[in-house]
Amino acid sequence: MPTDSGVDRARLAALADRERASFAERRPRSAAAYQRADHLFGRVPMTWMNKTAAGFPIYFETAHGNRITDVDGHEYLDFCLGDTGAMAGHSPAPVVDAVTRRLAGPGGATTMLPTEDAAAVGAELARRFGIPYWSFALTATDANRWAIRLLRAVTGRPKILVNSYCYHGSVDESLIVVGPDGRGRSREGNVGAPTDVTTTSRVAEFNDLEGLERELAHGDVAAVLMEPALTNIGIVLPEPGYLAGVRELTRTYGTYLINDETHTFSAGPGGATAAWGLEPDVLTIGKAIAGGIPIGAYGLSAGLAEAILARTDLDLVDMGGVGGTLAGNPVSMAAARACLEHVLTEPAFDSMIATATAFAGGLRKIIEGYALPWSVSRLGARVEYRFADPAPRNGTESAAAADGELEDFLHTYLANRGVLLTPFHNMALMAPQTTVADVERHHEIFAAALGELTAATA
Ligand SMILES: Cc1ncc(COP(=O)(O)O)c(C=O)c1O
Repeated sequence: MPTDSGVDRARLAALADRERASFAERRPRSAAAYQRADHLFGRVPMTWMNKTAAGFPIYFETAHGNRITDVDGHEYLDFCLGDTGAMAGHSPAPVVDAVTRRLAGPGGATTMLPTEDAAAVGAELARRFGIPYWSFALTATDANRWAIRLLRAVTGRPKILVNSYCYHGSVDESLIVVGPDGRGRSREGNVGAPTDVTTTSRVAEFNDLEGLERELAHGDVAAVLMEPALTNIGIVLPEPGYLAGVRELTRTYGTYLINDETHTFSAGPGGATAAWGLEPDVLTIGKAIAGGIPIGAYGLSAGLAEAILARTDLDLVDMGGVGGTLAGNPVSMAAARACLEHVLTEPAFDSMIATATAFAGGLRKIIEGYALPWSVSRLGARVEYRFADPAPRNGTESAAAADGELEDFLHTYLANRGVLLTPFHNMALMAPQTTVADVERHHEIFAAALGELTAATA
């Protein structure tokens, strides 16, 4: 039974049917393309693309800035932005130029040899995040995997601790939640776990320092892997003192701290780490930093880099389990350099955050106007509403506030009127190109959806 989101279920079901029918009727080409994809597993390039509110995915034709067009001739304002992969906007010109120049000029998509762009990207990441030594992957998942391996090796401890209902990519160690009895257990839906997750991992709720200390006191945790704010179960913001407490406890118990800034990068040009003065030992990131071209990266503090390099028994060059033939390739590096130097700049963040502030403010007013028990959270350029008020304090509370039917209805309603949200939740992200007029357009449609849902006028 879904949470009490404050809406009439029968009305919601009827409206959802109407919107799904309209979605299908107006997208015959997308529907046909989906039906023709007989040799794709699940009919999609990757099975998660079946996470669509209306039954089949929209096949897009063009994507520039914050606009997408589909094969049926519809245009969308894109607030999904590839769930952060396209936070720089789609196909930003400096990234397109840099990648084209690399491939059409000197050439070499992948060579096993470094280019000088890599050092420039490392230096820029060091400047932004205050973390001095960088290494590259092709996804944030891999950056997390490799950080975990290094920290297990250097500490000799077997376990990783994460927050309940976190998401760090398909990292086996992270698929653990706090169960109703307060103990860790495998997250529902986990596929093909290599081993019982409680043998590799510990878990604590976000914003719970007591729970964290209880787990760290076992002395077997190599690293805490966390987002400075949860972003994959709605946005759950840290309470005052929580992040400082995490840092203090990890130091007390000899546990390293990894900040995964893949999404919290929305907080500013140096992510939450710079915005909030955090001091992680490792910082992992991916998605947005190369303007949509595949990349992942992990940065190491000076002390940690020294400790790892001093371990001459660790094979960091050949069979050590940290690898990726195409990692650090010249195209990713050229794209990241261009994106960081010319697109996701300080002024760009100023504008994205101002637009997101307008988005959050407008959203709150509309929700209040319809007296719905929902809350709105913002993390820099990223905004999300949750079907609970006050806003959830941790992952378990936020998971309990999920309402799939309502979410699907809102996503379909918005898509039918030319607005895209992130399919996995109610997240809206601002690109440098997103304008206040775009925000107002979203709000007009959102208010109309709530009007129909509640059959009232605000
Ligand atoms: C915080 C965080 N870390 C890591 C990842 C994994 O990123 P990727 O799928 O690009 O490997 C995600 C993906 O959503 C994420 O949200």
